[in-house]
Amino acid sequence: MEQYDYTELIRAAQTGQERAYAPYSRFAVGAAVLTASGHIFPGCNIENAAYPVTMCAERVALFSAYAAGEREIVAIAVITATDAVASPCGACRQVILELAPRSIVLLLNTRGDQQITTPQELLPAAFGASQLSEAKERG
Ligand code: THU
Repeated sequence: MEQYDYTELIRAAQTGQERAYAPYSRFAVGAAVLTASGHIFPGCNIENAAYPVTMCAERVALFSAYAAGEREIVAIAVITATDAVASPCGACRQVILELAPRSIVLLLNTRGDQQITTPQELLPAAFGASQLSEAKERG
């Protein structure tokens, strides 16, 4: 995957950022997910007057891919207009790890900085399904 050209994925994340519905924070986040079938799913943060029900861009993109029946996520790009590259929140790190465990994660900002990482690097020592099954086995 190292040779893959992520231009289209990054462009989709930029488009996602333009579509952000963030009237409260004014902090627009864009994301895009590339699946093994070659499809790209954009995402943006979608806020609500009841603040806690806001949904992050990363999860919108991932849920959208899953809702379309996709299961193998190859890469996910996230972009923000920050000085440092985008930094997914804890909830999104948890979801990225479960829904896109083998993916490459591209963290970007609108200045053109880019960092490539992995779900495992973003969330070490994560809670996961194996812990659920251990507890079940113990009864
Ligand atoms: N946000 C995301 O979309 N992704 C993240 O990983 C961090 C935060 C959004 C949620 C909210 O609309 C705004 O950024 C400010 O927290």
